[in-house]
Amino acid sequence: MNPRGLALALLEAVDRGGRAQHLLDQALDRYPLAERDKAYLTHLVYGGLRRLRLLDHLLEPHLKAPERLPPKVRWALRLGALEFLLGKPPHARVHPWVEEVKRFSPGLAPLANAVLRRLMPREAPEAVWLSLPDWLAERWRGFFGELGFAEAFNEPAPLFVTAYRPVDLPQGPLPHTYIWPGPKADFPALGLQPQNPASLLAAQLLDPRPGEKALDLCGGAGLKAFYLASRGAEVVSYDLNPKRQAAGARTARRLGLKVAYRTQDLTRPIPERAPKVLLDPPCTGSGTFRSHPELRYRLVPQDPRAMARLQLQLLRTAAQATEPGGVLLYAVCSLTEEEGEGVVRAFLEEYPEFTPEALELPLPVLGRGLGVYLSPEGGLDGFYYARLRRRG
Ligand SMILES: C[S@@+](CC[C@H](N)C(=O)[O-])C[C@H]1O[C@@H](n2cnc3c(N)ncnc32)[C@H](O)[C@@H]1O
Repeated sequence: MNPRGLALALLEAVDRGGRAQHLLDQALDRYPLAERDKAYLTHLVYGGLRRLRLLDHLLEPHLKAPERLPPKVRWALRLGALEFLLGKPPHARVHPWVEEVKRFSPGLAPLANAVLRRLMPREAPEAVWLSLPDWLAERWRGFFGELGFAEAFNEPAPLFVTAYRPVDLPQGPLPHTYIWPGPKADFPALGLQPQNPASLLAAQLLDPRPGEKALDLCGGAGLKAFYLASRGAEVVSYDLNPKRQAAGARTARRLGLKVAYRTQDLTRPIPERAPKVLLDPPCTGSGTFRSHPELRYRLVPQDPRAMARLQLQLLRTAAQATEPGGVLLYAVCSLTEEEGEGVVRAFLEEYPEFTPEALELPLPVLGRGLGVYLSPEGGLDGFYYARLRRRG
């Protein structure tokens, strides 16, 4: 398998509903590729998906019915267009993709050759340029006043790690965050946990104290719980997915951190309370388009509202679990009004005993209201955080 052929197979699998990150991780584990080829494969898969709408726009004048092409031929043309867009000279980008097309649709090789040679720069509306669905581009423009921030979703990011031991690595944008420079490794053995700093920030904003009890609700594998435990908090992580929790418990042990896991559906109340509660509920993930590049084409306009309903329900459980005088930190890796400000506004109407606290973020801010939207710049995921204090 060469990286181009592999990229076409993976992108076809994404067309059938697969997740790019998962498929790519599997392929990188399975095929003995040189590091250079791994990097090229990653670039092709992520680049092709992140720029998909723009690539189709560049190909449009040269193809009568692209949807009728075999999927791999269509992807070969898109990836050829990606390399055109990124400035690769014709001799280096046309022939290799025509050769790929020859391998599975020889009759279409002349078409591929002609299309890839004829590509020209083309003006595009901003949503097309950014490869965003129109509905989301419109909502973002209306809510944040601009769209430029979304360009950051189309650029590669470093692999960030959170360190639970002293390490000699380039620093990341927050305390305890670093940039992992090399190929993937046995991270827990090195005291490291791959994690986007924007995700870690939710745990840092909870500001846990040694000996204090902290609840990590919708904790998944407990990545945020690891940080809380490392600050000396007594942490209980709740989620309804026991598999993720079992994997998290293994990692916590290897990192030398103590986290208790409880499996429960959090649309129902839990039998305990704490002065510090973190809720990281399921969301549209619209702040994670960089690492989940196919997601933007799968979301539909109704999704943010549906997620917001579930989030409000989970917030009720979190509110009951927050001791008077305590803090409830609500965080989502989404940049929609509904899942951020909308949920918190509805929550505060129902629970007037909670007051939002001002948040000063050490990272770039996209918008502010009851909480703060983090801009997805510099490899960060886009996030929304609100810190809600319960009256004592
Ligand atoms: C955004 S993820 C949380 C990620 C995690 N906090 C982390 O830092 O990696 C949302 C989590 O909510 C969990 N979840 C979804 N619905 C739930 C429910 N009704 N009760 C409890 N957990 C739920 C999912 O299993 C998933 O792990």
